[in-house]
Amino acid sequence: MHIHKYEKLWLGLGLLLIVGFIATITYGAVGAGVTMVDESGEVVNPNNLSEHPEFGDPGVEQVGENEYDVHVISRQFAFSPGTASPITVPANSTINFYVTSSDVIHGFSIVGTNANTMVIPGEVAEITVEAEEPGEYGIVCHEYCGQGHHDMAGTMEVVPQDEYNGSEQ
Ligand code: CUA
Repeated sequence: MHIHKYEKLWLGLGLLLIVGFIATITYGAVGAGVTMVDESGEVVNPNNLSEHPEFGDPGVEQVGENEYDVHVISRQFAFSPGTASPITVPANSTINFYVTSSDVIHGFSIVGTNANTMVIPGEVAEITVEAEEPGEYGIVCHEYCGQGHHDMAGTMEVVPQDEYNGSEQ
């Protein structure tokens, strides 16, 4: 079959466009430092979080010299910890967030950091944040989750290393 050279050109351009789209999506998903919900996250029973080894007593736990795990439960309309009490971590440390929901879909975004994820009941969203400068960072729910959605907020407090005493929350 003979293909006209303009037809070949358009086929080529079409293919290029498709490859371009795929490359853009791939870059957006893995290349840009944006952390999203992924399939590798742990699965939990949202109705039984109190029995979970970590979510049963959520909060900050030191796991390395400058590394901390933080488990957070999102529920209508608070982060625990985060809302009633701030999430307190030391400056210049690596913070691994594990966030889940006990009711509906929420959002978890720490303003001024790369943390920005959906929080889905039954799934654990994992996000690593480098806590650098001491200060207060707002945490917001950015998925509509009910009539109290606009009030669903919290705080991450980054304190200087020497002030941080590792107190449990
Ligand atoms: Cu939780 Cu919006």
